[in-house]
Amino acid sequence: MKSEPKRYLITSALPYANGPKHLGHLAGAYLPADIYVRYLRALKKDVLFVCGSDEHGAAITIQAMKEKTTPREIVDKYHALLKSNMADFRISFNIYHRTSAPIHHETAQAFFKDLNDAGKLIQKETEQYYDEVASTFLADRYIKGTCPFCGYTEAYGDQCEKCGTSLSPEQLINPRSTLSGNPPIKKRTTHWYLPLDQYESFLREWILEGHKDDWKANVLGQCKSWLDTGLQPRAVTRDLDWGVQVPVKGAEGKVLYVWFDAPIGYISATRQWALEHGKDWEPFWKDKDTKLVHFIGKDNIVFHCIIFPVMLHIHGNVLPDNVPANEFMNLEGDKMSTSRGWSVEMDEYINDFVHKENGSTMVDAIRYYLTSIAPETKDSEFTWKGFQEAVNSELVAILGNFVNRTFVLMHKLCGGKVPPLHKWDEKGKQIAEETRLAAEKVGLLIEQYKFREAQNEVIELARKGNRYMQEKEPWIVAKQVNESGKPTHEAQIIIDNCIHVCLQLTANLTILCHPFLPNAGERMCHMMKVVPRILEWENAGKMGLLKVGYSLRPPELLFRKIEDEEINQQIEKLKQKSAHTTMNSPTQAASHEEEKKKDIIQFDDFAKLDLRTGIITAAEKVEKADKLLKLQVNMGLETRTIVSGIALHYQPENLIGQKVVVVANLASRKMRGIESNGMILMAEDKDGKLQFVHADTTGGQAVS
Ligand code: 2FM
Ligand code: ZN
Repeated sequence: MKSEPKRYLITSALPYANGPKHLGHLAGAYLPADIYVRYLRALKKDVLFVCGSDEHGAAITIQAMKEKTTPREIVDKYHALLKSNMADFRISFNIYHRTSAPIHHETAQAFFKDLNDAGKLIQKETEQYYDEVASTFLADRYIKGTCPFCGYTEAYGDQCEKCGTSLSPEQLINPRSTLSGNPPIKKRTTHWYLPLDQYESFLREWILEGHKDDWKANVLGQCKSWLDTGLQPRAVTRDLDWGVQVPVKGAEGKVLYVWFDAPIGYISATRQWALEHGKDWEPFWKDKDTKLVHFIGKDNIVFHCIIFPVMLHIHGNVLPDNVPANEFMNLEGDKMSTSRGWSVEMDEYINDFVHKENGSTMVDAIRYYLTSIAPETKDSEFTWKGFQEAVNSELVAILGNFVNRTFVLMHKLCGGKVPPLHKWDEKGKQIAEETRLAAEKVGLLIEQYKFREAQNEVIELARKGNRYMQEKEPWIVAKQVNESGKPTHEAQIIIDNCIHVCLQLTANLTILCHPFLPNAGERMCHMMKVVPRILEWENAGKMGLLKVGYSLRPPELLFRKIEDEEINQQIEKLKQKSAHTTMNSPTQAASHEEEKKKDIIQFDDFAKLDLRTGIITAAEKVEKADKLLKLQVNMGLETRTIVSGIALHYQPENLIGQKVVVVANLASRKMRGIESNGMILMAEDKDGKLQFVHADTTGGQAVS
């Protein structure tokens, strides 16, 4: 039996401050952590919830290049955005910190120095990829090539985003620099390594033995496969100029590997929080009575279960008690991806649904849906229809409806006060028992990180409340009136009993739903005129929470219905965003096509395409669109205007006279105010360059 922890330290993965984050991120690492933390707080535990922006690494410098600005500007801009998005979704961090803060640099440097001074790191001179044109060593993310495991041609030097395998740049087939597009050369350089191979038996024992019963199967599975493959020393420094300087003489121009410094961000956030609150940060990281839990997405498992724990172990820190990583959430049948425009960004949702109206109900609505489809054991699927269905037929029709009916009837039939319970009958007793059991179950499920099931228990309890009320029918009973037109004494007793039970159930639902739906929980407290102390978990399962005779406020709107039109708009918006991104990024589009093998089509489908040859007669750049060219294409009887996303691949003057194949019956579309009538077929060659389709290409390329 584990002893009761003295304190809880809960972390959510630090998101890269390189752009907005989507609802899949929210569902993966932030929302479940927030539910867990709110539950712990309701249990009056000593809990600290930390997060912040990950502001180093190639994710940031690459974005700076894309936006033609500095890494500093990028992190300032997106840190502010992420911080405000998290607050909008009511993710209740005690601190949302950032890794560019001086206290983080100091903490990370001290950590590195401690390990190095203790002789725990090894120094090695090796050959690394170097871009001669850009005169720089290449971080893993700056190298692309073909994945040796799945053949995906756009794999990064650290990971293949198609099959999810972690890679080292040396494993890539046909590597190329993303800076110049050239194949990189090898050049000698010295780096510090964390000898992971020396800690295999420690990891095996700690994870595969020590946590075989309490860690999730997906997490154990990944750890086992890493350990079975055999661990290699991992370089923890890089030749870069953006990041935390390596605090060793002779290491000028080198920074800590982003995955070395980022998790230390949890420690520096703790320190900053302690500083601001006059607390001691050290017990959180040094006292074994701390329960440390990392909430992450599945792509972060190796870093939180293997690399960071080895660092913590050597450094003498607390190890995570659990790492309840989630799988991925797909969107409308495809992988969620900001770069491909196939995503719903947190920011977009806030703008479309929350800021436009008294949006707190819509924050709870999406929290509800995301938890109800949480990818806890396998990838799951977000659909706008599913969102509408879950909100309308569960939140509105079950929970909202029960609370609303209870309050309306209490005002109508009980004078706006908590009526007395004259007598427990069988049905009432049953509800009391169900409530007690539900409170126990919800708590237990949350402690097991089964948030989806836990939330479902809450809805089930509300469903039972509705059924109880339906059976008691107080509105019908109220028709048994005496000569003064009031319900008879007997009728009033039945009404009082029913409304009393329903109100006590509502108070319980408030406690139970609050970790998942904080806005609804608070609004229900307001309606019941109770202080938030009622939300303490020790109250859950009890039937006497509201005192008889206590007057309550009128009902307020907890949730609202989602209309078809709103859903259709979102689906349309998603399609347009994705088409726009694809048009503006032909390389990406092409590689995605390759990634997404298409279904077999019938001849009739093919016959719908009107493919025609043409000759480009004029070409010019489209203003304010780096990637678009406006082309005139002579197709025999007519000349068409076609906007094509090939400006990064061809100069307009070199295109005159080029023979092309055109999809002539594609619906016209406006891009940057120009109507495009058709699409030119292109194929991507092995270097990612778009080529016009003709018979002597090497074969096998996706046509787009
Ligand atoms: O994958 C990511 O988005 C990383 N920025 C997560 C870092 S988690 C932690 F280690 F800081
Ligand atoms: Zn792969």
